[in-house]
Amino acid sequence: MEKLVIEGGHPLHGEIRISGAKNATLPLLAATMLCAGTHVISNVPNLRDTRTIVKLLRSFGLECQPDAGSEWRICADKIDNFEASYDLVKTMRASVLVLGPLLARCGVARVSLPGGCAIGARPIDFHLQGFEKMGATITLREGYVEAKSPGRLQGADICFDIPSVTGTENILMAATLAQGRTVIKNAAREPEIANLIDMLTGMGARIEGRGSDMLAIDGVKELRPAATAIIPDRIETGTYLIAVGATGGEIRINNCRPDHLPMLLDKLRRAGMEIEVGNNWLLAGRRGHLSNVDIKTMPYPGFPTDLQAQIMALMTLTNGGLSVIQETIFENRFMHVAELNRMGAHIRIEGRNAIVRGGGLLAGARVMATDLRASASLVIAGLAAQGITEISRIYHLERGYDNLSAKLIDLGARVEQVQETA
Ligand code: EPZ
Repeated sequence: MEKLVIEGGHPLHGEIRISGAKNATLPLLAATMLCAGTHVISNVPNLRDTRTIVKLLRSFGLECQPDAGSEWRICADKIDNFEASYDLVKTMRASVLVLGPLLARCGVARVSLPGGCAIGARPIDFHLQGFEKMGATITLREGYVEAKSPGRLQGADICFDIPSVTGTENILMAATLAQGRTVIKNAAREPEIANLIDMLTGMGARIEGRGSDMLAIDGVKELRPAATAIIPDRIETGTYLIAVGATGGEIRINNCRPDHLPMLLDKLRRAGMEIEVGNNWLLAGRRGHLSNVDIKTMPYPGFPTDLQAQIMALMTLTNGGLSVIQETIFENRFMHVAELNRMGAHIRIEGRNAIVRGGGLLAGARVMATDLRASASLVIAGLAAQGITEISRIYHLERGYDNLSAKLIDLGARVEQVQETA
């Protein structure tokens, strides 16, 4: 395994280009299964999770060919296997996104239940209840979901208790080929869902309500392949914005979507960062002190839970005072707290709240990554800390950050990726 070695204390300067969004790549590649023909998906990020979804599609019989740059050509003429194995699903829970397309196009799917996850139980009951309402029979057997739809799925009225991102995406994809109208109420509104809707519309799907919490889909008999670009990754963008807030300096971020980060930009400006916004670029820096801000994670357009760990690292660096960070989405998304405290932070957990006392100086330490965004939090802390930080188990990072070390080095960070000694 590899580890990241960071020599902290160097302000970031320079510019980087944001890659395609991980959380759009997974549903959009799954959507290629909805019809035969060759789809062209561009701006696909080079991530561990991209390789996992490609492995899954190939295991179903699709042909997936990387093309020039970050483009993939995916031919879905043939689907001759309908089972997503535990070995693949356990490495990426979003594999559940193959359920909707397989059920809609082939009438059958056998997908391993994702199993546990560091940040919470993350059940998929909303997905399964939605498919049952659309006429599928769902059986749980030996840790697998077995889904069958004797004929075409039927349109249905589906209301989520809480907005679920992949739940909305799964039902949305299945509904495009169902008989009749499907209405999804309390749908999630993340930009990645709008990206999926644009792809499905380009394939001939009939969808109303893009960007709202109510989607209406009139099923069609057949779809056609499309060419689609993946949107820039807003969580990658936010991670680099917070990093320069932590180290000081000034960076330019290209090929991003500032309009996808309304809440983060507001919070970082209140914390004392200067941020200039273009339509696809950001200029961000911090010269003076950092001030405390309170955070409450919420479904989009609220503050993203996927940036909670990162902004917590930033709040440990303010000039004193307290920040209250409330995590409302996942029940166990404070795995980074213990490691940050080992670096000299002062964070106390009270239920769903983390109370962060600023004014501390972080000191480099050997720490361990536990999940994707907790790892990003430790990178940010390491960049700001005095001394050397070694982060082990960085395969977590490689799931969701394209070329992280190289991008940080482009920004002047002292970062090295080396083999872990036994
Ligand atoms: C998506 O996960 C993202 N992953 C997550 O990003 C992100 O943190 C999350 O949405 C919230 O924004 C992808 O898009 C691939 P949810 P998802 O269903 O869809 C509960 C990252 O770091 N729930 O929106 O799995 C659930 O437990 C990852 O990039 C049910 O109870 O999340 C949670 O409390 C981490 N039953 C809440 O809803 C269900 O059937 C929101 O979860 C589904 C969800």
